[in-house]
Amino acid sequence: MSASSAVSFLMSYNCTACLWLMSGILPPLQDRIFFVTGATDGIGEFTAELLAKEKCTVLVHGRSPEKVDRVVKSLQRYCPKIFGFVADLSNLRDVQRLGEEVARKFPAIHGLLNNAGTFAGDYSGRRKVTEDGNEYSLAVNVLAPFLLTSILLQKVRASGAGRVIVTSSMSAMRCSADAFGRSAMRARMVRLSCLRA
Ligand SMILES: NC(=O)c1ccc[n+]([C@@H]2O[C@H](COP(=O)([O-])OP(=O)(O)OC[C@H]3O[C@@H](n4cnc5c(N)ncnc54)[C@H](OP(=O)(O)O)[C@@H]3O)[C@@H](O)[C@H]2O)c1
Repeated sequence: MSASSAVSFLMSYNCTACLWLMSGILPPLQDRIFFVTGATDGIGEFTAELLAKEKCTVLVHGRSPEKVDRVVKSLQRYCPKIFGFVADLSNLRDVQRLGEEVARKFPAIHGLLNNAGTFAGDYSGRRKVTEDGNEYSLAVNVLAPFLLTSILLQKVRASGAGRVIVTSSMSAMRCSADAFGRSAMRARMVRLSCLRA
């Protein structure tokens, strides 16, 4: 899709979305907007594909422009309303930019899927500190989804019945207090988001 046709599509799309918002009725799946982080691999890519097959609008996020481009092109076989976003979630400024860009371009988010996650950093036993001075896995698994959710919460609420989903793990249920692994961190992120909402 060229830049100009994308703009005209979005303009007409926004009108449809606004009509649904004003009606107060939850739109059919093909008129809903889903934002999937970490959609360039694994569970995120699989979920984005399922949503594209349902003709939903899917915002595909990844950290590699090439991978995002590949997934967007591949999902456009099922639905034209697929849009790519690139951001490194270990960098809070990038997360802020991503959230603001999505908020500017879309009137509502029916599903925010905080799926991107990493095993790098402390969890793997190799300490890695981000540019912002945060431990790497804490930044990607907890701080990024919390900031993104905070920025987009109004858009999720605007959808009328939006959902924020965080992929975590059953292992969070039995994680000991000192094993500050990514599952436990994601569980904490869910609790933080509930408080924020
Ligand atoms: N697979 C499981 O069995 C399992 C079990 C329990 C929970 N989970 C949770 O489910 C989620 C997805 O797991 P998965 O197995 O599908 O993982 P995956 O295949 O490794 O995919 C992770 C996704 O997150 C992206 N990502 C990683 N670090 C990033 C960063 N710094 N900035 C932006 N994006 C980043 C990856 O981008 P790239 O493509 O560029 O690497 C990829 O798109 C994770 O949060 C994980 O904790 C998974």
